Amino acid sequence: MRILVTGGLGYIGSHTCVELLKNGYEVVVLDNLSNSKEEVKEKIEKITKKPIKFYFGDMINEQLLDKIFELEKIEAVIDFAAYKAVGESVTKPIEYYTNNVSTVLVLLKVMKKQKIKKLVFSSSATVYGDPERVPIKETDKIGGTTNPYGTSKLFVEQILKDLYKSDYSWDIAILRYFNPIGADKSGLLGEDPNGIPANLMPYIVKVANKELECLSVFGNDYPTKDGTGVRDYIHVVDLAKGHIKALEKLEKEQQGLYIYNLGTGKGYSVLDIINAFEKANNVKVNYKIAGRRPGDIAECYADVTKAKQELKWKAELGIEDMCKDSYNYILKRKNN
Ligand code: NAD
Ligand code: UFG
Repeated sequence: MRILVTGGLGYIGSHTCVELLKNGYEVVVLDNLSNSKEEVKEKIEKITKKPIKFYFGDMINEQLLDKIFELEKIEAVIDFAAYKAVGESVTKPIEYYTNNVSTVLVLLKVMKKQKIKKLVFSSSATVYGDPERVPIKETDKIGGTTNPYGTSKLFVEQILKDLYKSDYSWDIAILRYFNPIGADKSGLLGEDPNGIPANLMPYIVKVANKELECLSVFGNDYPTKDGTGVRDYIHVVDLAKGHIKALEKLEKEQQGLYIYNLGTGKGYSVLDIINAFEKANNVKVNYKIAGRRPGDIAECYADVTKAKQELKWKAELGIEDMCKDSYNYILKRKNN
């Protein structure tokens, strides 16, 4: 089966390309390199010893998408292409809604035209806003997002539901990711944001590597076990494998709209993560307690029963692997 992977050279996309190739799929990537590098293509090929086809371009470009579908005989799409920085989305709402919503409309228009109706879409636990309870089930209330990034994911979910209602021959999986961290064991693929990282693990890694001085722990007065924020961290390779299971589901069922949480079902606090990272890598992570970060919630972790039952998927890698592999990528980065 030939899969178009939009945003396939990014963090989650690149790991998913590896799993797709390992599982016998043919991969065509469209990426505008707004948050990735072309050399990732060779790294994916080096890990898998299989080729991928790469198109440089923007998903807003309808002609380019038409051309890719026609030339490459695409049979299904996994859509990762989006901007993802929560803080930046507050200052650049137009850019975020354009890149995260308008581009999806173009993709859907072309898919409809080309009669290719199998789509896996990257959504986020952020659509639950401040959850009413944990662990969060797929049927729990969504909405109450506090930034354009989160709202863009909510909008696309609604667009996909409306589309399915208008035409039941679509076959769509919406995957709500919790907090992906970690990296491919080879150290060739991973996450290395430019500048000061906004997310916990990339920041910890840079403190451990002495590129940054000290981690600020955003609040220790939440109603959690140690007062710091609790999240469901999932190894990016497990997350990538979840996409294969979702594709298999779409191949098996001829039509449907399915929503799955992809997490581990376990919540770790910020202090848990610092401790686990220090232990796994035998390094010190300097930190200080700082004030709460606006918009943060206390606790967010998944009920993963649905994915387990329907996709026969569950996360296999634990927090130690996540911490080791995140650090390994940064240590090897310079040699890659
Ligand atoms: P990433 O930024 O590493 O990857 C996104 C890729 O898409 C990049 O390679 C970028 O160059 C490309 N891209 C962006 N806009 C494009 C466009 N218009 N046309 C073509 N290519 C484009 O991000 P990621 O962490 O791999 O996230 C992938 C998806 O998963 C995104 O939709 C993101 O919102 C979602 N998600 C990520 C997280 C997370 O914590 N990383 C959590 C939940 C959901
Ligand atoms: N944190 C710190 N210090 C930091 C960075 C983060 O203490 O320097 C804390 C946060 O307060 C939070 C936890 O670490 O308690 C995790 O924060 P992240 O920024 O790593 O992740 P978030 O849960 O805030 O958000 C991430 C992505 C979103 C996605 C969401 C899905 O950034 O895009 O996970 O759950 F929607």
